[in-house]
Amino acid sequence: MTTTQANQPGALMAAEIAEQPQAWKTLLDNGTEAIAAAAARIVEYNPRFVQFVARGTSDHAALYAKYIVEISHQLPAGLVSPSTMTVYGAQPDLREVLYIAVSQSGGSPDLVQSVEVARAQGALTVAITNNESSPLSQAAELHIDVLAGAEKSVAATKSYTSELLALYLLLDRVRGGDGSLAQALPDLAAQVLDGDAHVREVAQRYRFAQRLIATGRGYSYPTAREGALKLMETSYLSAQAFSGADLLHGPLATVDPQVPVLAVVPAGAGGEAMIPVLERLAERNADVFGVGAADRIAGLAGGISLPAGVPDVLSPLLEIIPLQQLALHLAVARGGDPDTPRGLRKVTETL
Ligand code: F6R
Repeated sequence: MTTTQANQPGALMAAEIAEQPQAWKTLLDNGTEAIAAAAARIVEYNPRFVQFVARGTSDHAALYAKYIVEISHQLPAGLVSPSTMTVYGAQPDLREVLYIAVSQSGGSPDLVQSVEVARAQGALTVAITNNESSPLSQAAELHIDVLAGAEKSVAATKSYTSELLALYLLLDRVRGGDGSLAQALPDLAAQVLDGDAHVREVAQRYRFAQRLIATGRGYSYPTAREGALKLMETSYLSAQAFSGADLLHGPLATVDPQVPVLAVVPAGAGGEAMIPVLERLAERNADVFGVGAADRIAGLAGGISLPAGVPDVLSPLLEIIPLQQLALHLAVARGGDPDTPRGLRKVTETL
């Protein structure tokens, strides 16, 4: 379990990381009706294209869902740049588009405005939030509550994985699935949470790091991005995330033994696609720490292995947990308080 004493720096974040199995159980038990209703409307609408709109952590959940749509639904999918509508006033033709907004707070005006434009322009709009009464939930035709419960730490943790789970369950249902693969996730998450003491030790490796690179492919690329964001906002280090493929297209040149690399290497196809990336990193004598399948992290400088037998598409829910724990412990080890990162608020309002 993620242990930090109440009233100590990071106590809220630690509690919310630890609550994830329960939050997922709540969604699995109580979210089915709203998900089934939304899925039925989506099937009836029969979209030709899926667009997602989100910011920050929720943008990483949207990116995860984009992979599902492209791989499992075999439909084109994209991430919207809200400024096209809010700053430039664009009013694109969105007929036959399923438009999904993802936001834990549902409070950022740009997301609300983009959903209003999308709805007026013919899209079927869905809001996925952790706040049923938010402006975003009201703006969309359909709403799914991720039921993560109040999140008090500024750094989003349980709301992120509940967004991932809600998106998975919705998209699975659209294809006629019953979400059964996800039922094992809460118990598996509890196992991953038990690695907290190890992660606390691992955090010492990065105490003086100024820069870090995170990388993953496919479903695990959003994990790399979210891990990097958590490290930036809680521990103030410059963490850049690249898909393993993009890393090889230039940024690899910035890697040397002094720049630690976090590689997300699950058992499935995404992890396999990381093998050539790990080889190229090894040529540069990079200090690579892995999160993923035991055999994939075996040759690295260090690693955290995840439970075996988890389908590729569900691995991101588990992969991010050690990275959340790392961000928490690293921030505390560097003398900070990850619950109240400097300069940030729980709800960021942008246009
Ligand atoms: C990071 C974090 C932010 C939010 C972003 C979007 O931990 O919480 O990146 O994810 O400000 O906020 P919501 O999801 O409320 O739209």
